[in-house]
Amino acid sequence: MFVSDCLNINSHGHLTIGGRDTVELAQTFGTPLYVMDENRIRESCRRYKRSIDEFYGGRGLVAYASKAFSCKAICALMAQEGMGLDVVSGGELYTALEAGFPARNILFHGNNKTPDELAYAVQSGVGRIVVDNIFELELLEQLAASAGAKLRIQLRIKPGIDAHTHHFVQTGQIDSKFGFALETGEALEAVKAALAQDNLRLCGVHCHIGSQIFDIQPFELAAKVMLGFIARIKAETGFEIEELNLGGGFGIKYVPENDPVEYERYMKRLSREIADTCKALGIKTPFILIEPGRSIVGPSGITLYKVGGVKEIPGIRTYVSVDGGMADNPRYILYQSEYEMLIANKASLPKSRAYTVAGRCCESGDLLGEGVPLQEAAVGDTLAVLATGAYNYSMSSNYNRLPKPAVVLVKDTEARVIVRRESYGDIVRNDL
Ligand code: LLP
Repeated sequence: MFVSDCLNINSHGHLTIGGRDTVELAQTFGTPLYVMDENRIRESCRRYKRSIDEFYGGRGLVAYASKAFSCKAICALMAQEGMGLDVVSGGELYTALEAGFPARNILFHGNNKTPDELAYAVQSGVGRIVVDNIFELELLEQLAASAGAKLRIQLRIKPGIDAHTHHFVQTGQIDSKFGFALETGEALEAVKAALAQDNLRLCGVHCHIGSQIFDIQPFELAAKVMLGFIARIKAETGFEIEELNLGGGFGIKYVPENDPVEYERYMKRLSREIADTCKALGIKTPFILIEPGRSIVGPSGITLYKVGGVKEIPGIRTYVSVDGGMADNPRYILYQSEYEMLIANKASLPKSRAYTVAGRCCESGDLLGEGVPLQEAAVGDTLAVLATGAYNYSMSSNYNRLPKPAVVLVKDTEARVIVRRESYGDIVRNDL
């Protein structure tokens, strides 16, 4: 019925999430409000883990990419689910550690981690640092030596496959700020440099080919290219890499036309591709890591807004203005991302008109969507934007000094605030 399976309609004709009436949630907790379904998040984690158990003998780690949505409650939930965690900054690392997430299951990513962040990661005992460039490799060797630690590292490789769009291209894409290029020989040089360090232990190679990907083929191709690289490393140095990290990028349904592949099918085909390729190349099948972010939290979240005005411009368009916008969801202004929306208090009525949904920021481009089919909208309605669980709260800002909304987690109809709504006091907290 909806793009996400944790949503329904109750006997009042109201949209529900995790069995809870969204109109009542909006009244209780205020708007704008992010709401997430805990069971749906947990089920996504479990499906990834089960698929590795079933098709890859359990020899893998699913590391949630916390950039999609990071807060203490989510990190704690990921720990309970036995997930790994991908962090990309000192702030994400701090959040995870504050939540009691085990450092050994954290991977630290980033193309320009600062010396302070790296020192923090080393001192915290982060399990794997994904090294992006040679400067970082040298810095890490020094940090590890002074900490007396042997650091586990992976190297980020550009496999030359770009799947950022709906189709993918094998470009040999060396023009990316991330990682070491394969075809220039830079990647192999980096491996040799890593192996020459006394305090670094090269455990794996990593690649990430894009986000919101709907095909299995680019992942298979990436695995093949990376395994070829592992075989080349073995041939040139005698060293056999143990871990292959294939990154994240699994697509989700934002609008009904989107057609994501089920994880189970990814894993089944990927496992076969890895087994066949390893056999052909005469290398061991590696321990694998994947780093899904969007697909774990995206479909479980919605955003609720209050409609403050409906402005018809005859013959042109009708604007529905809501009490949030680009500050809590910058994805439309940034990427023209499409979302399914509905009037939550009229969920059982047909969508009779197309609206332009406008945010409240002082900027004409502050829209959440154009030509969006909705039920007849009126002031006071509650508007729900679906599948906002990923890259919404995490990319939100205080533009126009708007306080960030609260995040509520619903589990079996119980709702609890996991991120408090910001106050005006929070807005001036750091002003001197
Ligand atoms: N691993 C690495 C190294 C990544 O760079 C990313 C995402 C992921 C994992 C997780 O990818 P996912 O499974 O979530 O697709 N702000 C954009 C998305 C940027 C993704 C960046 N990297 C958006 O709102 O669509």
